[in-house]
Amino acid sequence: LGYRACVSAYHLRPARSGDAAAIAVIWQDGWRDGHLGRVPEALVAARTPRSFRTRAARRISAAVVATTAPGGTVAGFVMVVGDEVEQVYVAADHRGSGVAGLLLAEAERLVAAGGHRQAWLAVVPGNTRARRFYERRGWSDAGLFDYQAAGTAGPVSVPCHRYIKPV
Ligand SMILES: CC(C)(COP(=O)(O)OP(=O)(O)OC[C@H]1O[C@@H](n2cnc3c(N)ncnc32)[C@H](O)[C@@H]1OP(=O)(O)O)[C@@H](O)C(=O)NCCC(=O)NCCS
Repeated sequence: LGYRACVSAYHLRPARSGDAAAIAVIWQDGWRDGHLGRVPEALVAARTPRSFRTRAARRISAAVVATTAPGGTVAGFVMVVGDEVEQVYVAADHRGSGVAGLLLAEAERLVAAGGHRQAWLAVVPGNTRARRFYERRGWSDAGLFDYQAAGTAGPVSVPCHRYIKPV
């Protein structure tokens, strides 16, 4: 009595089409938290609510979601494309809970399962919360480069740090 076991209640599973709306909301809110004031205006203009809904629906097969319990609500998601951990997003009220670590570990596992020895991701310099999160999990900063982010009229060049980790 008087204590609770520290066992994660989160559940990981591949995303399904019915998750697209929840993913779009977490993606849009998290994108703003991580990127506003830190990326070119052309990218902010391209990241409309509709753009997140469209991309979430299109990319659903690349996504793994964490839910609050089997059958529960979506707390966060990752998207893996080849050796790139393309998206890592946790809903604001689930940050600091450890669920982000579960999702990132699953993304690393998927990169390795795809036959790659090293995973990479792009993060904007000002996103210090995300950078600390990656660094604490064994990722290292391989330096600045220009990430070609999907925009409305072709790619938008965004200065980012490339983070890498052997998997
Ligand atoms: C990035 C993200 C997935 C990390 O998940 P999280 O649950 O927030 O991560 P944690 O709380 O475990 O770790 C965050 C680290 O930043 C620190 N931190 C917390 N708030 C911070 C802030 N405002 N500024 C800087 N660092 C901060 C935490 O203390 C922790 O570091 P520590 O372990 O050394 O103390 C989550 O914050 C998120 O979804 N952010 C918005 C979307 C985003 O930016 N995604 C990444 C795009 S590349």
